[in-house]
Amino acid sequence: MAKTKHSARATSARAIAEVIQKQRSLNAVLTTALPLLAENERSLCQQISYGVLRWQFQLQAISKQLVRKPLKAKDSDIAALLLSGLYQLRELRIPEHAVISETVNACKTLGKPWATGLVNASLRNYLRQQENIEQQLLTDDAANYAHPDWLLKQYQHDWPENWQAIAAANNQQPPMFLRVNKQHQSRDAYLAKLTQAEIMASAVDAGNEAILLNKPCDVFQLPGFENGDASVQDGAAQHVAELMNINAGLRILDACAAPGGKTCHILEQQPDNTVVALDIDPRRLQQIEQNTDRLQLKAELIASDAGDTESWWDGQLFDRILIDAPCSGTGVIRRHPDIKTLRRPDDIGNLATQQSALLEKLWPLLKPDGLLVYTTCSALKQENELQVSAFLEKHPEAKEHIPDHAPATRRPVGYQRLPGDDNLDGFYYACLQHR
Ligand SMILES: C[S@@+](CC[C@H](N)C(=O)[O-])C[C@H]1O[C@@H](n2cnc3c(N)ncnc32)[C@H](O)[C@@H]1O
Repeated sequence: MAKTKHSARATSARAIAEVIQKQRSLNAVLTTALPLLAENERSLCQQISYGVLRWQFQLQAISKQLVRKPLKAKDSDIAALLLSGLYQLRELRIPEHAVISETVNACKTLGKPWATGLVNASLRNYLRQQENIEQQLLTDDAANYAHPDWLLKQYQHDWPENWQAIAAANNQQPPMFLRVNKQHQSRDAYLAKLTQAEIMASAVDAGNEAILLNKPCDVFQLPGFENGDASVQDGAAQHVAELMNINAGLRILDACAAPGGKTCHILEQQPDNTVVALDIDPRRLQQIEQNTDRLQLKAELIASDAGDTESWWDGQLFDRILIDAPCSGTGVIRRHPDIKTLRRPDDIGNLATQQSALLEKLWPLLKPDGLLVYTTCSALKQENELQVSAFLEKHPEAKEHIPDHAPATRRPVGYQRLPGDDNLDGFYYACLQHR
């Protein structure tokens, strides 16, 4: 059997092709691909893979102008390699000659030496005709804003004043936020540890434990990371624990819990509370365990469809319920640019159906004086304010609870943060209680 060869550029081309052609998530593909690369090649591979998917719709429009005859499906790795060469020429500070020669070499690593001429000529043509080619992009929204048409239209429909800012925010590289484990130390004490480790950072308003790093870094460079002193979590997600209004002696359900970011934050408020953390995906449930172990916390883990209450519920009501619902992820595209490629227009209606089923099934599990928090990392109204207002219309016994501090911009029901507002992820929050 021929041995597969590896290099940052060849590996990223394979990874990008897997995402575009086989609809696999980039994270899943890179989790298996990166360890096969030499350590010094991994970050370039990651940077190219994320960057190409971030700009895919623009890069493909350029590639179309350069390659007259579309490549066959079996050569999707070469198509992806070409996108990667274009991305490097436009976005990375690598000398042009190095980009061209390394990208051409990657054709051989991919076992396709016949493509060297095509890749070489296309990249050189791009450099020669750059101005004209770039000008052409302005004539088409999908290319200009680097998003699929259907999603741009959806943003335009929901946020006619903000859709361009949303698209621009989605195309940014995300900042890195930390959540300080307040069971271990205060935010100020952890900031001092970061300064000592020469990691520049500042406290931010997004919750009492949130820190923004000036520059992303490897988690293992963070002081005390392995002992659970801090976790990586966007500031927008850190508002959720605050909305849950946690005090001692509560029985809490985190219905869609994996990988456990919010479960752990909730436990860090009061580690002695009972937290039942459910997820439908048993493999993702293991990630909660890894996180609680690292942070020295304890949750009751159950792999189940939260809506199938007969299969998992012991009949005891909850003081707090969090539904961090499965959603389109259209608020966190800057972190997961493959969402632009993987999501389909039909997904939105299907997800809205799942979200409404979860609300219907879990509402009866709330104590009369309890609080249910519904959140998504979506920027689409159908999954957010329209979803919750439809629920409230159907349930006259339910009402919205108004928290002391608004976590984002007030909407007719709940609060919406659009992607990039205050440098945070897009997020929706609504708190519900009995009348
Ligand atoms: C937005 S993610 C949750 C993120 C998590 N709360 C955190 O902060 O780390 C949504 C999760 O819901 C899970 N999920 C989807 N449908 C579900 C269902 N019917 N019951 C339970 N979990 C579900 C998915 O597997 C996914 O892990």
